[in-house]
Amino acid sequence: MSDRLIFMATRNDATVAGADALVDAAAALGIRRIGFKDVGLDRTGLAALHARIKAAGAESVLEMVSLDPAAEAAAARLAVDLGVDLLLGGRHPDAVLPVIAGHGLRYMPFAGAVSGHPSMLSGSDDEIVADAARLAAMDGVSGVDLLAWRRPGDAAGLIAKVVAAIGPKPVIVAGSIDSPAAVAAVVAAGAAGFTIGTAAIEGSFAGAAPELSAQLGAALKALAEAEGRTSAAGTVDLARAFAGFDDCWSPRIGGRINDMHLKLVKLSGAFVWHRHEVEDELFLVTRGRLLMKFRDRDEEVAAGQFIIVPHGVEHCPVALDEPCEVVLLEPATTVNTGTAGGGRTVTHLKSI
Ligand code: NI
Repeated sequence: MSDRLIFMATRNDATVAGADALVDAAAALGIRRIGFKDVGLDRTGLAALHARIKAAGAESVLEMVSLDPAAEAAAARLAVDLGVDLLLGGRHPDAVLPVIAGHGLRYMPFAGAVSGHPSMLSGSDDEIVADAARLAAMDGVSGVDLLAWRRPGDAAGLIAKVVAAIGPKPVIVAGSIDSPAAVAAVVAAGAAGFTIGTAAIEGSFAGAAPELSAQLGAALKALAEAEGRTSAAGTVDLARAFAGFDDCWSPRIGGRINDMHLKLVKLSGAFVWHRHEVEDELFLVTRGRLLMKFRDRDEEVAAGQFIIVPHGVEHCPVALDEPCEVVLLEPATTVNTGTAGGGRTVTHLKSI
């Protein structure tokens, strides 16, 4: 699953008491990054919460909403002492960086002018982008934390500008993400992740029942749809999907299943000999006949049959009938021509 969603066991920028049950509920949904803030619980409470997150198999995230050098240095020290994986927020890298140096945790301070509690962002797009670039250029800064929806104006546009300015360093969007549309905007703008806390805990994420599991489930569904990992339109009819394109040897993505792509491809004549270094490929013929040529034999695959080609094995698919329509199941990293390359390579696949 995508790790873009970071669940924060926090409400209105403070860690909530009794957060263990929230951590367990999030972990049960497969959420693998869970966080808390430096405000709301004492050190003992935060340490216990961190331990609970790690015991659930998740990465631990601490977001600093204190905004003065001494408090940020103290929160950074806490993060180091506990073994937090990702340190978000704060505005004083000069106070934080010496504390975390050499400890291996990732650190992403707030970009732009941030003030108040709950934290608000101010400044023009240009000012925030320039500040993000300044921070991202610092040694020890892994990316930035952007309170895109905590400022009036075009949040999605601001995210895209910051992503463009600091790439390939990641942007995490925090604060007030409470709808599928906001999740879609985060993904479309190219952010590496987002936090969701208050909305899910208060039951205000749009379009879902108020229980936390339903709220986080709705956010995960919105994320899957935004990332193209689900058939958002519901049931997919193969005949209709194949009727939607004509070009041969140019696979279309039908959906994503964990790290695998389901693809639809039309074949005509012979392809090129090639092999894949690490990817196994499944060819399920739905119309016509496929001849899979290997160096030592040929295999004929009719409609309703499939063949699996292991990685490392040279193969050359040939359409025996036209049309020949095939469903592929293979890792998302698979390139159609494998290690052979050449003019028939397709790297940017369209979706059905
Ligand atoms: Ni192949």
